[in-house]
Amino acid sequence: MSNNLDASSNSNVLARGRLAMLGAHLIPSELPHHDILQTLPLSAQLPPPNLAGTLTLVDDRTGKSYQLQVSKDGTVKASDLKKISAGQNDKGLKLYDPGYLNTAPVRSAISYIDGDEGVLRYRGYPIEELAEKSTFTEVSYLIMYGSLPSESQLAEWKFAISQHSALPQGVLDIIQSMPHDAHPMGVLVNAMSALSVFHPDANPALRGLDIYDSKQIRDKQITRVIGKITTIAAAVYLRMAGRPPVLPSNHLSYTENFLYMLDSFGNRSYKPNPRLTHALDIIFILHAEHEMNCSTSAVRHLASSGVDVYTAIAGAVGALYGPLHGGANEAVLKMLSEIGTAQNIPEFIEGVKARKRKLSGFGHRVYKNYDPRAKVLRKLAEEVFAIVGWDPLIEVAVALEKVALSDEYFIKRKLYPNVDFYSGLIYRAMGFPPEYFTVLFAIPRMAGYMAHWRESLDDPDTKIMRPQQVYIGECLRHYTPINARTTSSDADKLGDVAMSNASKRRLAGSGL
Ligand SMILES: CC(C)(COP(=O)(O)OP(=O)(O)OC[C@H]1O[C@@H](n2cnc3c(N)ncnc32)[C@H](O)[C@@H]1OP(=O)(O)O)[C@@H](O)C(=O)NCCC(=O)NCCS
Repeated sequence: MSNNLDASSNSNVLARGRLAMLGAHLIPSELPHHDILQTLPLSAQLPPPNLAGTLTLVDDRTGKSYQLQVSKDGTVKASDLKKISAGQNDKGLKLYDPGYLNTAPVRSAISYIDGDEGVLRYRGYPIEELAEKSTFTEVSYLIMYGSLPSESQLAEWKFAISQHSALPQGVLDIIQSMPHDAHPMGVLVNAMSALSVFHPDANPALRGLDIYDSKQIRDKQITRVIGKITTIAAAVYLRMAGRPPVLPSNHLSYTENFLYMLDSFGNRSYKPNPRLTHALDIIFILHAEHEMNCSTSAVRHLASSGVDVYTAIAGAVGALYGPLHGGANEAVLKMLSEIGTAQNIPEFIEGVKARKRKLSGFGHRVYKNYDPRAKVLRKLAEEVFAIVGWDPLIEVAVALEKVALSDEYFIKRKLYPNVDFYSGLIYRAMGFPPEYFTVLFAIPRMAGYMAHWRESLDDPDTKIMRPQQVYIGECLRHYTPINARTTSSDADKLGDVAMSNASKRRLAGSGL
C-alpha cells in the first residue's frame, strides 16, 4: 500500500473518470483478491457451544430467589423477568436498554458477526471468500434462500429479477416531480413507498393479512424489489444529471445493467467496463446484509404490523439515510475534503477528542475490531484508482486512519474504520456525487431487507413489535380551566419559531 501511495503522490492524478468514458479502452482482467482471506481466530471457526442451563437470581429488595431458563443460545426471556417484583405497585422487572445495546428481539440464520474478532459471514460463508469468488446475484440468492444456487437455480433467479426490473410510469413520474435539489435518498424513500400504491395486489391491507403466506406472492415481491431497485436508483441518478430514465437491459448482469442505465444514454450496444463492474459488484456483496442494524430492524419492526413490504422497505431506507448509519459514507467524504491535507489531521483529531465532532467512518456498535468489509474496500480502492486515476484524498484517509489507530482515545474505545470509511472514496473515484453514495449502499441492502422480511414471516415467534417504556412523567393531575392556570417560568414551552421575510410580507397584507 505505502509504495503505491508514494507512486501515486508523484503522479498526482485526480480520480474523476466517468465509467462511460473509460470503458472503451480498458482491458478486462480478474481483480487480484488472493490475499484478502484472513486467518480466522480459532474461536471464530468453532460452532457455538450449547449454553443452555438455568440462572438463579436473588432479589435483594425482597430476599426472594428466582430461577430463569437460559436457552442453548445463551439468552433469557425478558418476559421471564416480569415475575420478579418488589411487591405491591411493582408490575415486575423490565430491561432498560436504550439503543438495544443488549437486546435480541429475533433469532436469525442469515448473517453472523463476531464484532470482537472482526468476522462477518453470510449463511456461514466468510465475507472475504464471497467477495473474492462470488457475484452479487449469487450472494443475494444465498442470503435469501440459505444456500448457494445451482446453475439452473441461478439462471431462474437472474431471469426472475430481470423480468421484474421495469418500473410503473407513475413511479418514474414521482421521481421526476421531486424538487431539483432533493436529496437522492429522500427521492428513494418516496419511490419505494410509491411501489406500495402501485402494487395493490401485494397489500395485506387490501388483500388480507394472510397473502404473504403464499410462497409465490412472497417470491414475487422479493424479485420485484431486487429487480426494481437498480432501475429506481438509476432514475434517481439520471434525474440529478438532468437526463431521462433509461430502460433496463435483460441481457446484462445485475451490476452491469445498473451501470448501463447510468451511462448508456439508451444506446443498446453500450457495455460498461468489466473491471469497474466487477469492483462495484464486490462493493454490492459487502453491503448486502448486516443482521439487525438500524434499517434492517426497521424492516422487521414495520413488517411486524402486517403492513405491505414496500412500505416496510421505505421505512428502512429512511433509517439508512441517517448520517449515523448508511449516510456515514457521504459524511466521510465531506470530512476528508474538509481536512484537505495530511498536515491538518492533528488539529482535526484534537477537535474529535474535544467532542467538537465525530470521526465519520470510525466506530461501530458491533465491531470492536477492524470491520472486515473495510479491509476488502481498502484494497479495492487501490484497484479502482489504478483504473480511473489516483484520488489524493486516499492519502488523507490512510494518514487519518494511522493517526487514529495509534491514539489512546480511539484505542481505549476500540474505534476502528468501518465499511463507510473507504467506500466513499471508491464511489467518488467512480464518478458518483457524495449525496448519491447512500443510494449505492441501499441497492444491495435490499437483499438483506427482503431476507429478514421473509424470515420474519416464517418465524413462529414473530409478534407485532411493541417495546415498553419507563414512564417518568407526572403521576396524576386534574384539568384546570385556562384562567385558573399558573405556569412556572422554567416550564417547557414553545420557543421562537423563526418567520421568513416572505411570511412577514404576507402577514403585512390585509384580507387574510
Ligand atoms: C456507529 C456509531 C453510531 C456507534 O455508536 P454506539 O455504539 O452508540 O457507540 P457510542 O456512541 O456510545 O460510542 C462509544 C464511545 O466512543 C466514542 N465514539 C464512537 N464513535 C466515535 C467516532 N466516530 N468519533 C469519535 N468518537 C466516537 C463516543 O463518543 C463514546 O465515547 P464516551 O464513552 O467517552 O462517551 C458511532 O461509532 C458513530 O457515530 N460513528 C460515526 C458514524 C459512522 O461512521 N457510522 C457508520 C456505522 S457503519
